[in-house]
Amino acid sequence: MNTVAQALQVSVLPHAEGIGAEVSGVDLSRPLEKDVFDAVSAAFRDHRLLVFRGQRLSVEQQIAFSERFGVLEDFPDPKDQADGHKTVLRVTNIDRATGNIKPVDDPGHKSFTLGTSSWHIDSSFRTLPSKASMLYALEMPNEGGDTMFADTTLAYDTLSVTRRTELDHMVVIHDFEETRRRHSLPPRPPEVKAATPPARHPLVTEQDNGRRALFIGSHAAGIEGMSYENARTFIDELEAISTQPQFTYRHQWNSGDMIMFDNICVMHQAMPYDLVGSRRLLHRTTVAGDAPLPGVDGFAP
Ligand SMILES: [Fe+2]
Repeated sequence: MNTVAQALQVSVLPHAEGIGAEVSGVDLSRPLEKDVFDAVSAAFRDHRLLVFRGQRLSVEQQIAFSERFGVLEDFPDPKDQADGHKTVLRVTNIDRATGNIKPVDDPGHKSFTLGTSSWHIDSSFRTLPSKASMLYALEMPNEGGDTMFADTTLAYDTLSVTRRTELDHMVVIHDFEETRRRHSLPPRPPEVKAATPPARHPLVTEQDNGRRALFIGSHAAGIEGMSYENARTFIDELEAISTQPQFTYRHQWNSGDMIMFDNICVMHQAMPYDLVGSRRLLHRTTVAGDAPLPGVDGFAP
């Protein structure tokens, strides 16, 4: 099939309710021709969350597709990596070494499960926040284990001018420890914490296309100039606004589904499933950030 014919096959159908769009006519296992890649990129800019169904992707093919969008983040722990690829994270309750379901009281598994059950933005505690994440479903439970997504761009747009002006030059602190604190998990050892110190970001970020978004989620630990308690209430309010049904999408996974989402403007959370009796395995790739988040009208904390 020639390039033009391939591009013509691409169909982008916005979800009837909530956010994001379904993309069909694209085989992500093959190198994307320029026109197809441009069509997918344009859809991603417009919708910030794209669903591709019925894919069959090897780890290498997922990496190849993801790398079209930038340099991928590394996941340092070998036991979390898919087939030894440091840029592919196993999101799962299955132990890689044994193939068995992990014990629910395994500390690492417990903290991961609790952490991902809150609305969050992957790696928002990094100084250079990651741009996008791709999740590819391999094994899914018959019931539960959905993922919810919430678009803070749309939420920001609904705020009053007064409220937007109030938020536009605030500085939010993101700290990995905050998510552990929220779930009453013990702090990590000082030498581990030192590797991911808290990061300062604009609370409202402005994208290249002028769209503005709230940069919040469970790692958001404070607002500069506010007490911890007041900041928590403030951030929780913004989260409640952002996660109203009209700004969200709930994905019920089937094996072969791939979702890519904007990891700055879109929060996500994993929904519960039977951790003991059901197997769930997704592969995540994440496009690393290469610059601090831009604030409104050039604001830089
Ligand atoms: Fe996540």
